[in-house]
Amino acid sequence: MRQSSVYDCNIIELPKNHQLCGNITAVNNCKEIPFDIQRVYFLYDVPGGSGRGGHAHKELRQFIIAASGSFDIIVDDGNVKRTFHLARPYIGLYMPSGLWRELDNFSSGSICLVLASTVYNEQDYIRDYDKYLEFKSI
Ligand code: TYD
Repeated sequence: MRQSSVYDCNIIELPKNHQLCGNITAVNNCKEIPFDIQRVYFLYDVPGGSGRGGHAHKELRQFIIAASGSFDIIVDDGNVKRTFHLARPYIGLYMPSGLWRELDNFSSGSICLVLASTVYNEQDYIRDYDKYLEFKSI
């Protein structure tokens, strides 16, 4: 959605099954998050303190979890920027399509788990910030 704003992002707390032997958190299609999951990918071995991911998606919706460690997600709708700090495996950020996003301040050993609404499609990416602003203004 070209009209998405940073205020359409939501932090979602997932149910936690707490046991002495360890916790379990599950995510189901269209239950805890508002889309069908078509793809799961994860970022790992990201050098501590570094960042990545300056781009936007035209259609893709995502739910992003710090499955281990922590990092920041900076979302930008062309007018407003918001920073979300993720640091718990049962708390994630829902991101609608059409927002510029960057990931930063990865703690070493962290894992960024992404549940995605579509399969990988390079045509869905906007990788240039000026082109993103053009996309938003149409
Ligand atoms: P990309 O999403 O561009 O990550 P970043 O912007 O953080 O560098 O992904 C980097 C590369 O990884 C991309 O050019 C192709 C590959 N890739 C896949 O093959 N499948 C995927 O699902 C993803 C997310 C990336």
